Parts: sequence; structure tokens; C-alpha cells
Amino acid sequence: MIDLSTTITGIKLKNPLMNASGALCMTKEELHELGASSSGAFISKSCTLLARDGNPEPRYADFSGGSINSMGLPNPGYQFYTSFFPELAKYTKPLFASVSGLSLADNVQIIKTFSEVKALSAIELNLSCPNVPGKPQVGYDFEHSAEYIHAVSKICKKPLGVKLPPYFDFAHFEQMAAIINKSNIAFVTCINSLGNGLVIDPAKEQVVIKPKGGYGGIGGSCVKPIALSNVHKFRELLKPSIQVIGCGGVTSGTDVFEHLLAGADVVQVGTTLVQYGPKVFDRLLKELEIIMKKKQYSSLVDCKGKLKQLS
Ligand code: DHB
Repeated sequence: MIDLSTTITGIKLKNPLMNASGALCMTKEELHELGASSSGAFISKSCTLLARDGNPEPRYADFSGGSINSMGLPNPGYQFYTSFFPELAKYTKPLFASVSGLSLADNVQIIKTFSEVKALSAIELNLSCPNVPGKPQVGYDFEHSAEYIHAVSKICKKPLGVKLPPYFDFAHFEQMAAIINKSNIAFVTCINSLGNGLVIDPAKEQVVIKPKGGYGGIGGSCVKPIALSNVHKFRELLKPSIQVIGCGGVTSGTDVFEHLLAGADVVQVGTTLVQYGPKVFDRLLKELEIIMKKKQYSSLVDCKGKLKQLS
């Protein structure tokens, strides 16, 4: 028997998989389906203070290497989730809430309220939504990020994590890690989509999504190397007590295994979940078990963070 259990911020998960926020987790029905799925935990769609319709459709498209989206934060508003989360407690697995208020004050108000919701295990503060016109990603502005993290840490009574955008320069990894190491953040989730990519349909000579002139966040298999570098770098730079959730490019059990090697404690699934639905967790877990068995590993600790260098 292979033990796939893991722990994040002291919370036990029976396996390391969960959905990435945004993937099939906005409505009551979607969250019930995730609750009933074989994932080890689940998280709700990033919410704002007030309900939002989001950007005009089509706003999500698959392409050969992954997906592009510019959803624009459609969500029913945080009060909907405050009253709905207790219904999800029956699934007896950890429930996270993703918060993406449009200002620091909004985030503070939402997180104060969510702090009192017993059904919630943890909160993921989203510093990296690339799709709201006129609202830059907070995670690319280090001063702003420090201010958000400081203010929210003070009022949050649940384990608090931050969802980060991908970084591409060691100086940026170091700046963000220094901010997080000084805070009481319990985990980071790396990575959100690669912001403002452009997918072109050559036959139609056209963009594939309507909002923002066709620009949108890129996810799926093409982002895996960037996701792995971000997981690995933050694992290296963060204090050992701060955990890392890997997200990006997971289409198979092997991809999950690579995230674990890079240092992830939990692994989120976005594009692949949207493409195949919550049943996909069954396949990913089966594939992960097969790899672990082949390698004669009996639990995740045998491989977690054990990436080797060339000598
Ligand atoms: C949306 C996209 C994101 O990548 C994110 O982190 C939050 C929201 C969106 O467009 O809805």
C-alpha cells in the first residue's frame, strides 16, 4: 500500500491533489462535485466583495499546449460563499477559500468574515489575477505585495497562503521570498497562469477569446517548466515552516510526481480539470501510485523535495 497522504499547515489531506482556484469551483454544483471527488482537498473560485459577471464570452479556450482565459473574476460575491461553505463540511476534507478582492480594504473585509467560517480550513489570498482590465497583478509589485501581506496577516485567523504569479528572474524570487519569510504566511501557491499570453487561430487569422483583444492567462502543459522552477525556487528560499503548493501543467501522475520532487506538499490541477472534469483526479492518483510503486516509494516523504542535481 502506498501512503499518498500529505499535510499542509497542519491539516491532513488523504492525497496531495486539489483543484486550482478558478477551475470548476464557482457554483454550488461545481463545489459539491469537487467535494464528492477523490481530490484530497478543494478550493473555491477567487471571490470579490460584490458579485461580478466577469468579461464577455468566449473567455476560455483550449489550444494544443494548454489553455488561455480571461474570465475577469466572475463570482457571486463573498457573502454567497460565507453562507454556502458550511454545506460543504459534510465532505470531511479540507476546504480552502480563494480571495481576490479588488483592493486591500476589500481583501481585509472578506478575510475577516471568512476567518469566522468554521467549514474553512485555510485561505489563499490571490495576488496574481491577470484578467481585470486596469488592475495590475499585485504580485509583480513588491511594495504593494508586502503591504497586502502585512495587513491581511494581522486580521486573518485561519492559515493564510498567497497565490503568486510566475517569476522569471532570481532577483524577483528573492524579493518575494524575503517578504514572505518576514510574515506569518503559512503557504505559497506557485503558479497562477502566465499573464497576458496571446493564442492565434491561423485558419481564421483571429484571436480565440474576446476580452482584452485576445490576451489572457496561459495554463496547461506548456507552463509546467515555469511552474516547477517557481515551486523549486520558493522551496529553496522560504523558511522550512512555510509550505509550497504546486500548480501548473499537471496533466498526468508523472507531472504530479515532478511537482513533488521540486518540493510541493500539495499539487493543484487547473486546465486538466476543466478539460476532463473532477473524475480526472481518479486517473491522476492511479498514475501517481503506479510511478511510486515502480520506484519502490511507499510515501510522499520518500520523494518530496528530493530533486537531484547533475554531479
Ligand atoms: C481570474 C483569473 C486568474 O488567473 C485568477 O487568479 C483569478 C481570476 C479570472 O479571470 O477570473
